[in-house]
Amino acid sequence: MSKNHSSKEKDDQQNILTNRQGHPITNNQNLRTVGKRGPAVLENYDFLEKMSHFDRERVPERVVHARGAGAHGYFETYGTVGDEPVSKYTRAKLFQEKGKQTPVFVRFSTVIHGGHSPETLRDPRGFAVKFYTEDGNWDLVGNNIKIFFIRDAIKFPDMIHAFKPDPITNIQDSERFFDFCASSPESFHMVTFIYSPWGIPANYRMMQGSGVNTYKWVNHEGKAVLIKYHWEPKQGIKNLTQKEASEIQAENFNHATQDLYDAIEQGDYPEWELLVQIMSDEEHTELDFDPLDDTKLWPEDQFPWLPVGKMILNRNPEDYFTEVEQSAFGTGVLVDGLDFSDDKMLQGRTFSYSDTQRHRVGANYLQLPINAPKTQVATNQSGGQMQYKVDRAPGQNPHINYEPSILGGLAEATQEGKEHQPYVEGNLVRESIDRQDNTKQAGETYRRFEQWEKDDLIANLVADLSNCDTRIQNKMIALAEEADEEYGRRLREGLAQATKKGSSQKPLGNRDGDKAPEQAVEKGHDAEPY
Ligand code: HEM
Repeated sequence: MSKNHSSKEKDDQQNILTNRQGHPITNNQNLRTVGKRGPAVLENYDFLEKMSHFDRERVPERVVHARGAGAHGYFETYGTVGDEPVSKYTRAKLFQEKGKQTPVFVRFSTVIHGGHSPETLRDPRGFAVKFYTEDGNWDLVGNNIKIFFIRDAIKFPDMIHAFKPDPITNIQDSERFFDFCASSPESFHMVTFIYSPWGIPANYRMMQGSGVNTYKWVNHEGKAVLIKYHWEPKQGIKNLTQKEASEIQAENFNHATQDLYDAIEQGDYPEWELLVQIMSDEEHTELDFDPLDDTKLWPEDQFPWLPVGKMILNRNPEDYFTEVEQSAFGTGVLVDGLDFSDDKMLQGRTFSYSDTQRHRVGANYLQLPINAPKTQVATNQSGGQMQYKVDRAPGQNPHINYEPSILGGLAEATQEGKEHQPYVEGNLVRESIDRQDNTKQAGETYRRFEQWEKDDLIANLVADLSNCDTRIQNKMIALAEEADEEYGRRLREGLAQATKKGSSQKPLGNRDGDKAPEQAVEKGHDAEPY
């Protein structure tokens, strides 16, 4: 037998199809039947296994951010924050030593629609990063826009209900969207971004990212500062007008996933710089906004963006479901030296993520390789669906699955550095924060836009608002007028010109929504029933 022949045989052996029990499959084309024409018998184990696994191929998709794309890479720290050593502000190990690299997995996403919805829709974009640090995982779960629609977590389910399709028609309806926003004036700044070209990033590589919520950094003395995180793309930033987005959508509704995948396959690795804004850990009554209010930007001239490191994405996932779909990020996933602030959105989010992931992926979702830290995991938690290993330390007495014990069970770790112990007191209340000013920063943002961005913003708002109840229109005009005289005037004039076309539902960002059904009939071809 020639050498070539034997190595080919070996290759063939490696490609042998088996079932999940490791049994070779010798016939994958025919059911086992009584005679050639059937019936099939119940002993068709391989068929039953194949089909019943297929029947379970989908897990529930994310309740928000269902459509996404992911990539692997690394984060490299500068060891400094601006001109100062980073250790002055945080003892988090991943930041300390200049040049130190930490592996990351990133998932970008759109928010409102399902797993295969177009990537050209007007929507925030998710920007979630999992850092596999030497102290366990850190997740920075952010968006492309630096602020958010609401400032209290209790409003999130209502907000998402209003933004998602109508429960009866299953069509997204701009009247429901603006109904919620007009009565939640804190959303006006975010609406100003979302209805401008910033609401449709050209792709995932050319967009910014932001932690949005306020976090803390803690140093060795246990002293904390307030922190905002931002990702700045080295590729530059590119957004789309509604018209450009519609043109792309007509050709390709996977363009952002494809752009990311192709760039990495071609070795054109996307890169972002991580920057932070720092504030002392106080209420800052001198400011006209609360630093814990995620509907507000921290003005850059007062709180400069300070670089701390860079992230490069250089590897595509080997399997979409295993890595991207099953990945699970959460705001509670912090490492020593990073901490929570009292930001009410952050506090609410921190419950929601791991709760939904236990439902979506399963009780043992943290044992999956994409979610597991690359460090030792030793807990006394065990059992539940799909457990495939025990979280045991090498020297642990396996009989001792509780703590405390003197019989060789797991022991508590030593606290590194002083614990941050913020002092809190107050009455238990259900009240909003002071210093709300919902429109001032929206006006500043409007004035910073370039002319084409302002024009697109007004056109998009007019298109979607013109079909709404006039009470909703008037509330939105009042908010725009409060933000900026020109902004309000242009919106009022635009809406006055637009013909009110009844109360039919219109999908968000589809300015030709009313025309769509007729166009589809005109362009389609009649077909005979099959
Ligand atoms: C109270 C407010 C919020 C709640 C309750 C909430 C809840 C959720 C839930 C349940 C998921 C699905 C997670 C999964 O199935 O794995 C999710 C995903 C996500 N959320 Fe939030 N969210 C909130 C606000 C925000 C904000 C302000 C941001 C931006 C900073 C954000 C960014 C993301 C991202 C990027 C994802 C997708 C993560 C991934 O790629 O797997 N969320 N959120």
